[in-house]
Amino acid sequence: MDKALVVYFSRAGENYGVEDRTVGNTEILAKEIVRLKNADEFKITPAKPYPEDYQTCVEIATREYEENARPEYVGDIDISDYDAIYLGYPIWWSDVPMIVYNFLAKHDFAGKTIYPFCTHEGSGEAGTFGRIADKVPSATVADGFELAGHTARTERGIKKLQDWLKI
Ligand SMILES: Cc1cc2nc3c(=O)[nH]c(=O)nc-3n(C[C@H](O)[C@H](O)[C@H](O)COP(=O)(O)O)c2cc1C
Repeated sequence: MDKALVVYFSRAGENYGVEDRTVGNTEILAKEIVRLKNADEFKITPAKPYPEDYQTCVEIATREYEENARPEYVGDIDISDYDAIYLGYPIWWSDVPMIVYNFLAKHDFAGKTIYPFCTHEGSGEAGTFGRIADKVPSATVADGFELAGHTARTERGIKKLQDWLKI
């Protein structure tokens, strides 16, 4: 079987309902998919890191959202060898973070299948699976997965992820 790729953005630091600030909620799911699917990974790392402080981050994210910005990230990956791409992100303002849209804009997804997964704190996937499909019409967007972020560290959360992955 061909290797899958897990591409994700996730912010460590102060987070709603989470004590551990060293790793983001979406990253926990991403690492689990990498392990379970023996996939390769690319973490979207902002060229300008988002602040540790939640409120300051919200302010920056609001501005980026309003300006429909495309924040830069560090490095990149050639996705041409991958047919299956798991795309992970936190919900920011009921949308995909602008930096993830930047990743989508920079790559050719023709013929590929995107498996979106996201974490949030109440808004669910907020229509983002459909928005990804709109942004990348050349790809097939499979049924996605959403999880309340603070449950990513629980057995129940991981079980839901495994159910989605059909493992
Ligand atoms: C800037 C910002 C905006 C957010 N907007 C939403 C939102 O619209 N709806 C929601 O349910 N959660 C929202 N959240 C909460 C995150 O989606 C949630 O904590 C997520 O699990 C964080 O994932 P991460 O740790 O991988 O970055 C927001 C968080 C931040 C920092």
